[in-house]
Amino acid sequence: MGIESPSRVEIAETGCSGWVTSPVERIEGHLKVPGDKSISHRALLLGAVAAGPLEVEGFLDSADCRATRAAVEALGVRIETLGVDRLRVIGPGPRGLRNPRTTLDLGNSGTGIRLLTGLLAGLGIRAELTGDASLRSRPMERIAAPLRQMGADIRTDAGRPPVELAGGNALTAIDYEMPVASAQVKSAILLAGLSARGTTVVRQPAVSRDHTERMLQSLGAPVDFDQQCASITGPCVLNGGRIGVPGDFSSAAFFIVAGLLRAGEGMLIRDVGINSTRIGLLDILRAMGGRIAIHKPRQLGAEPVADLWVERSLLEGIDVPPDLVPLAIDEFPVLFVAAAAAQGITRVRGAAELRVKESDRIASMARALAAVGVRVHETEDGIDIEGGSIGPGAVDSAGDHRVAMSMAVAGLVAQGPIRINDVSHVGTSFPGFAELARSAGFALEDLA
Ligand code: S3P
Repeated sequence: MGIESPSRVEIAETGCSGWVTSPVERIEGHLKVPGDKSISHRALLLGAVAAGPLEVEGFLDSADCRATRAAVEALGVRIETLGVDRLRVIGPGPRGLRNPRTTLDLGNSGTGIRLLTGLLAGLGIRAELTGDASLRSRPMERIAAPLRQMGADIRTDAGRPPVELAGGNALTAIDYEMPVASAQVKSAILLAGLSARGTTVVRQPAVSRDHTERMLQSLGAPVDFDQQCASITGPCVLNGGRIGVPGDFSSAAFFIVAGLLRAGEGMLIRDVGINSTRIGLLDILRAMGGRIAIHKPRQLGAEPVADLWVERSLLEGIDVPPDLVPLAIDEFPVLFVAAAAAQGITRVRGAAELRVKESDRIASMARALAAVGVRVHETEDGIDIEGGSIGPGAVDSAGDHRVAMSMAVAGLVAQGPIRINDVSHVGTSFPGFAELARSAGFALEDLA
């Protein structure tokens, strides 16, 4: 394909190999978490094909989003940095993207590789997309198969990256029933549908996050969506404009659970996205006895935001309702910590998707919790966690940012120090986590 070696993405490492936590009696704070990762990716990708400049405020400058930024720059998009979390994306205009000269390296990011593949398939771009070792082990046929049905010439390596797009074919709309509730699959198809002829319809077995639909609509695309299905009529051209990115609920989740376990006076987390397709964790934690209030709900462009007030609460184990699983999909590692600290047993089922995230999150959290003395029982699609007490010990993050941060929350209530090995990927989603956690009162020491 005339493709050279991969363009290397600078990964924002945390600068230390691990952390050691010590238990603390209380934490406090009025915090603000960085911008939403899902929405930041989408702003880059939609801005890349918009007819005018797209200004993005609240952008998450994390390793994952930097990888997507580098990839769209390699396609001929100019991106101006206007401030720490402000960007201007200036695309070459509709259908102006060029074939990249190197393999696009999406680092650790499933959202980056899957959504970009959909976008490029529709535009007839020739490209190869890959990522780090974790990403290269993740399933890609879930997007490649429907894109092929639309007419794309697309290959995977036995179902995994690299993903190769041969370019050329104009796509036609399909009506696709997704076998799993995946916002990445839905979004890849809708982004291909931007340039396909006709109305592309995606039907989902359960509700998944709807940021793509909201952003497409706010930029003028003919999109319809409800809980069951989303559609777009193409080809269509997006307007430029302005996108405000709320704080990432998935990052707030660590401080929500930390606050439930150890807040003294209470913990305020400001300007957090509360899109109903993202906040299943609130329903689950409330059912466990968690006291979390939503203050000052308001709208930031197409997305709802609010301040969250969290009070220390006694938690009890529950059977997690399976319909809440896709609405809390990224929050399970920290929910497992809440379950380990709660009284009684928490049971999760219908969560097989956790096995194909940045790590197999059922296995990596089961191992980490077992290493600090928590009794767990893994099933194919879930886990039983016997709550009560968390001991000291040494755990491994499995190279997974959310496992590392979840175990830092466990360290607040453990009966002694927890050593967390390999926290180098935390910057994937939450640069500055350790500093923010310390400012709230976590005892978190860097290992050299
Ligand atoms: C995401 C969708 C989810 C989520 C991921 C981000 C997105 O993945 O786990 O972290 O931005 O669309 P799936 O669509 O594979 O469930």
